Amino acid sequence: MPDRVYITVEGPDIKKLKWITNLVKRDILGRVANVMDNKETNNVEVVMEYVLRAGGGNHLEIGTLFGGSAIAVALAKKKYNQPGMVVCVDPLNGYYQDKFPDHSMMDKVTNVPVTPTTLFHNITKFGVGDRVLVLRSKSEAIANLVDMGFTTAYIDGDHWGDGPLNDWNLVKDITSRYVIFDNLDEFHIDVMYACGCADDDPKWDCVYQEGISFVVERVVDVPLATMDVLERMECQTA
Ligand SMILES: C[S@@+](CC[C@H](N)C(=O)[O-])C[C@H]1O[C@@H](n2cnc3c(N)ncnc32)[C@H](O)[C@@H]1O
Repeated sequence: MPDRVYITVEGPDIKKLKWITNLVKRDILGRVANVMDNKETNNVEVVMEYVLRAGGGNHLEIGTLFGGSAIAVALAKKKYNQPGMVVCVDPLNGYYQDKFPDHSMMDKVTNVPVTPTTLFHNITKFGVGDRVLVLRSKSEAIANLVDMGFTTAYIDGDHWGDGPLNDWNLVKDITSRYVIFDNLDEFHIDVMYACGCADDDPKWDCVYQEGISFVVERVVDVPLATMDVLERMECQTA
């Protein structure tokens, strides 16, 4: 038996995913954003589901806050023995300091600082330091990661102005399977616009749209860097 098994989980057990979400919700310092009672308003479970369906490989996250969704994905990958890292990109300088400057690092909901210290506290607490990489930066730094290749990406960073569309443009050519968008709702019209652009892209098809989640799947033209990473991974697990 290889120590890592390369599997695609077609219909991951939603109860197990809920268990992971509840664990993270209960023990995280700070909070998990976008976790409500059902799948429609709880896109952390949607993210885990599509990461598992993709069957392994690196996962890119734009917008990490206290680490809720990134830690949940890392735990899900571990539970299902799927290889790959979770790469988080976030300036970690307070809650949307550029949009709503208050010169404090505090999250107003929890009064916990949005800083690398809090994030690494949580990564350590959940034992996922071997699966999570953090880039303390705005999403444009993703341009430096193109050679990593990602199978999935979650866009949950800047929800306003050019932010969502810029993020889609940053991930669409380096992601080989699914891109998940957060906050498709009437309060985030720029997210809606970016989701519309993703839907119109001939290389991508919408495969899930419920509540605040929107997921597209790549239908053609797997990026070369990602292909290479997947081939190497298959060799390791054969
Ligand atoms: C809604 S929170 C993310 C929630 C997180 N995914 C979770 O599960 O709890 C949005 C995060 O996006 C970050 N952010 C804002 N602008 C960004 C940008 N241009 N690039 C990357 N991250 C950004 C903020 O610092 C904030 O931590």
